[in-house]
Amino acid sequence: MTSFPHLASINASPRVLKVLSDLHADAAAEGPYLNPAASLDKFVALDTDKCALVYLLLRASGARYVVEAGTSFGLSTIYLALAVGQNAAAGGAGKVIATEKEAAKAAKARENWARAGPEVEQWIELREGDLRETLKTDLAEPVDFLLLDIWTPMALPTLKLVQPHLKKGAIVVADNVDEANFKEGYRELVEYIGKPENGFKATSIPFSGGLGFYVYLGQE
Ligand SMILES: C[S@@+](CC[C@H](N)C(=O)[O-])C[C@H]1O[C@@H](n2cnc3c(N)ncnc32)[C@H](O)[C@@H]1O
Repeated sequence: MTSFPHLASINASPRVLKVLSDLHADAAAEGPYLNPAASLDKFVALDTDKCALVYLLLRASGARYVVEAGTSFGLSTIYLALAVGQNAAAGGAGKVIATEKEAAKAAKARENWARAGPEVEQWIELREGDLRETLKTDLAEPVDFLLLDIWTPMALPTLKLVQPHLKKGAIVVADNVDEANFKEGYRELVEYIGKPENGFKATSIPFSGGLGFYVYLGQE
């Protein structure tokens, strides 16, 4: 089994750790990201250090309702589901709403979650299709955490759909906001987040490509 040091940060059974390790090895072996059309058979997964941070943020904040924009083969979703399941273990509910528009990717994600088993699978609701439709309804619970790991021009429309449901203090994370090739794509999101009237406070974590870190403090 390939060793991924970040997995030391994760509480999970040997079964789940093996699935994570296998999927990260597959993701590491794929070619570089070129463009959305050329990535239909690719994970384009969140980096391992970012996965560990997201998991720990969810555990630290006790998050129970999470939206993931961009699920692909469901690798990052496993971290979200582990954390939500562990946070909910004290009693109560929790859910990760995962979103993927490519049917083949969604099918693969379901397979990966089934391999990981109930520790992961039972916490995920996958919404297949364009998230501009699938996230329009049934976001009943206050959302604690939003992961924006989607094609960059989709980031702001996604945030605007989810924002009315964000609880005060919710965390929003956006992948690769400081990556030179993605700066233009993220421009509108960064401008929106930067306007005080929209209710966010922002910083960026200097992982590879940067990880935008935003806290929703609410609109006055
Ligand atoms: C960067 S990948 C997600 C990687 C995943 N979060 C991980 O770390 O394993 C982005 C995914 O968003 C999906 N996507 C792009 N536009 C979408 C949309 N409008 N609705 C739903 N999914 C979309 C793509 O098909 C792609 O699989």
